[in-house]
Amino acid sequence: MTGNIEDGKIRYAKNCVNCHGPAGMGLASYPKISGLDIAYIIKRLETYRAGIEIGPNSALMIMMAQPLSDTEIANLAAYLNAQNTK
Ligand code: HEC
Repeated sequence: MTGNIEDGKIRYAKNCVNCHGPAGMGLASYPKISGLDIAYIIKRLETYRAGIEIGPNSALMIMMAQPLSDTEIANLAAYLNAQNTK
């Protein structure tokens, strides 16, 4: 499934931006998530959505990932991957 970058951008602006900053560049203690591989982002979001902890602050991400659909995850991954901060 190929994500839609524009839809991903809109979804990102809803709440992800509050922690991860503009274009996923990272903010304070929140990780930079721009420019990551699409497959990596999808795997991470699916893991959080399943309620599985990855790092010490996973509880925050589990809460954020649970409402995401497969389409929203694909769109977010496409958008974040396309942010040119590699
Ligand atoms: C309340 C703050 C907060 C919000 C809102 C938030 N995140 Fe996160 N995010 C985090 C934290 C903290 C981590 C690291 C969690 C851990 O320790 O496992 C993280 C980790 C991630 C990772 C994994 C990064 C890596 O290098 O493995 C991805 C991808 C991600 N977030 C995407 C998103 C997306 C997409 C959204 C919007 C749906 C979002 N986040 C909303 C705080 C947040």
